[in-house]
Amino acid sequence: MSSSDMNTITVIGSGLIGRSWAMVFVSGGYSVKIYDNQPGQAAKAIQEISHDDLSQALQGAFFVQECVFEQLDVKQSVFQDIERLVGEDIILSSSTSCLVPSNVFSKVQNRTRCIVSHPVNPPYYVKLVELVPHPETAAAVMDTTHSLMTKVGQAPIRLKREIDGFALNRVQAAIIAESWRLVQMTVLPLFDYGDTIYRSACKGALDHLDVLYHFVTNAPYRTHHWPAFESRAAEKASGCPPVITVEKRPHPPPRSAHITGPLLDGGPKQRRPCPSPLAHPALCLRIRALISSVVGQQDGVISVKDIDLLMSEGLGMRYAFIGPMETMHLNAPAGLEDYMKRYGEGITRVLNSFGPVPDFSGGEAAKKIVSEMCELVPNDPQHLSARIERRDQLLMALAKLKKDH
Ligand SMILES: NC(=O)c1ccc[n+]([C@@H]2O[C@H](COP(=O)([O-])OP(=O)(O)OC[C@H]3O[C@@H](n4cnc5c(N)ncnc54)[C@H](O)[C@@H]3O)[C@@H](O)[C@H]2O)c1
Repeated sequence: MSSSDMNTITVIGSGLIGRSWAMVFVSGGYSVKIYDNQPGQAAKAIQEISHDDLSQALQGAFFVQECVFEQLDVKQSVFQDIERLVGEDIILSSSTSCLVPSNVFSKVQNRTRCIVSHPVNPPYYVKLVELVPHPETAAAVMDTTHSLMTKVGQAPIRLKREIDGFALNRVQAAIIAESWRLVQMTVLPLFDYGDTIYRSACKGALDHLDVLYHFVTNAPYRTHHWPAFESRAAEKASGCPPVITVEKRPHPPPRSAHITGPLLDGGPKQRRPCPSPLAHPALCLRIRALISSVVGQQDGVISVKDIDLLMSEGLGMRYAFIGPMETMHLNAPAGLEDYMKRYGEGITRVLNSFGPVPDFSGGEAAKKIVSEMCELVPNDPQHLSARIERRDQLLMALAKLKKDH
């Protein structure tokens, strides 16, 4: 089977997100077919375009949007079934929120046509769609999906490579975690807030990190990739234990390193001594994630333009009216506690993969970010004041909307 025209899109799964995608694609002028493996479920969703037969649903489609349960094995098997029924040129797109493309598409033979198009609920009001490539995704597939999403009125953003949590959930995790900490008012010793290296640091730890660095990157150890490493290395060379300023810490400097548990899980209570990072597998994983994320920062995951769109067309749409706490409360059937039961582990995993505090003061990475921003809005008084005026006009309209509600 191959695509007969460029007008038909098949949606697989007719739950909350499948129905929403169908509305978005139909209102963008496309012909849509929906397939659901629960008999009658698709028919319930939208009478005329529904199918209980996968092959019929895929007939003529050039783009397939999968919206089945968020379970890896279910998605993998759905894509295997779809691949057997469609031509090589059909784009296979997944709505997954949390599974990385290399897992979702691992059982697809031709992965160059695979992509994640992650919507925000509900997609017809919140336009942001994250496009996340599989490592083998063809550039043309990313471009076609971007054009399609733009054409149907969405606001697509491109991730340059896959990353746990994609961009939206990573930014959201940062906001959730800091909001949670501030409300909880747990004033931890500064030591506990230090980065993973601080928490894990003890005599000899940096030697282990060297080994881990080689393991993760297969590259020679280069401190300039990680300025924080340099200062730790200097401390180590001088024989000083890598602790932070004593006057800021209520307790005496620890003799051995400690690990804190997940922040959303009562963290400090789970503190326990760890003589070496390598002795603790979870810590090794954290360190590896940290190193990978820092190495990955060299070419970035997303552009300045797209990270701003992530907030203005995605998270910010809700935050203008409800904050991060209520957002979570409304995003699980039984409220906030239920939300944390469902997503707390994933949020904690993403938070543990964050890199160190960036160097905002200069350096190549900072220069690149500033220059990207200035390309979008030149930093001369004329351009800046025009954008400020636009911002104020928009804020006035938003303020009026908020007043009326
Ligand atoms: N709900 C959200 O807020 C949201 C936001 C962004 C992305 N997503 C993602 O969208 C996807 C769907 O989420 P949802 O909230 O619509 O789920 P849902 O449970 O409402 O719907 C899933 C639908 O898929 C059908 N289905 C299950 N297995 C199938 C199969 N093998 N073949 C065909 N149909 C099958 C089910 O019958 C059901 O109708 C998930 O991957 C989710 O992570 C959800």
